[in-house]
Amino acid sequence: MTQLTETGRPLATEARDATPIDTRQAVGEGSPLVTTSMRAFFEAHPGARYLFFGGKGGVGKTVMAGMTAVELARSGRRILLASTNPVHSLSGLLGQDVFGRPTPVAGAENLWAFEIDTRDAIDRSKREIKEKIQWFLKFAEISTKADEFVEAATMNPAFEESAMFENMVDLMFKDEYDVYVFDTAPTANARRLLGMSKVYGLWVQKMLKSREEAQSLREALSFSKKKEEDPLMNYLVEFRERIRHARDLLTDPEKTAFFFVTLPEALPIAVIRRFITWFTDFGIPVGGVVVNGVIAREDGAHSSEFVRNRIAMQEGYLGEIRQLFDGQVRAVLPLYDSDIRGVPMLEKAGRALFA
Ligand SMILES: Nc1ncnc2c1ncn2[C@@H]1O[C@H](COP(=O)(O)OP(=O)(O)OP(=O)(O)O)[C@@H](O)[C@H]1O
Ligand SMILES: [Mg+2]
Repeated sequence: MTQLTETGRPLATEARDATPIDTRQAVGEGSPLVTTSMRAFFEAHPGARYLFFGGKGGVGKTVMAGMTAVELARSGRRILLASTNPVHSLSGLLGQDVFGRPTPVAGAENLWAFEIDTRDAIDRSKREIKEKIQWFLKFAEISTKADEFVEAATMNPAFEESAMFENMVDLMFKDEYDVYVFDTAPTANARRLLGMSKVYGLWVQKMLKSREEAQSLREALSFSKKKEEDPLMNYLVEFRERIRHARDLLTDPEKTAFFFVTLPEALPIAVIRRFITWFTDFGIPVGGVVVNGVIAREDGAHSSEFVRNRIAMQEGYLGEIRQLFDGQVRAVLPLYDSDIRGVPMLEKAGRALFA
């Protein structure tokens, strides 16, 4: 695809504006594919402030997050478009450097963008874990060096993921913006966190109980009746509260919405189908499905056999989408003849997303 920012049009339709595809045409006769639009969803959820976009690689999560952030910023609320994944693409999307700190987006009022420095976040987590382990080893009078434990605890990809998840939760807790739009849903993490939060809760409960017992024994044995500060216990209590709070926010259907982006193709559909099942099981609010990259049927008439075949294939999958996600499809976006980049094009394509 060519790099044209402001001129992107639906494929093979030079004259058409960024209007939404007529989904009745795209999937054959019958009722429209979109029954409750993106706009209608936000009107019905005025308090929605933690928004996530998930889906298979390359389906358009970043551009949808960008369009949504740009659109919501028009309402005058303060919007943060943030990315937690190590491979950032917001700077590329917006054509300006937004790495490392929330940066005002040029050409869009009330909008900030922020690519979180993952390396820094991971190092910080490692240091914190190390302090805790050191304290514990000293407390338990174990003469092993903390470093070995720290290595074992942090040498796995899950650690990196959770450090990024922690970053996201930190941002949410700081509460400095009205709406947070996260590029790339931490799907596996949200699911893990919520699945684990019960287990964590029980575990922390047990730990606290045995810590309390140990502490009262110490106090009983010591001459001074002074209550000892116990950093490990403080940490556990704090950790439990943090998980509870994150869980409360992420499962609140008034505040949180996970949107799933798909193309009219087999694998992206299979991926979001799985996500939606997981999320529904864990009580994480699903905002809906956005179908991206649809070639309008009328374009087929003047096109090559290749394009006509693609259109026929897409129609089959649009039928499948209708069956699987009936009532959940919020928008259908055309395939443009250029990448979606820069605020003007995000605004324009955003009109199709929020039609
Ligand atoms: N409807 C569309 N028409 C034309 N180009 C599009 C469309 N949607 C997305 N693109 C382009 O496709 C590419 C992938 O989109 P994007 O980066 O948003 O996907 P992603 O799901 O975030 O990918 P990743 O999984 O790598 O993060 C980008 O170059 C984007 O500009
Ligand atoms: Mg992306």
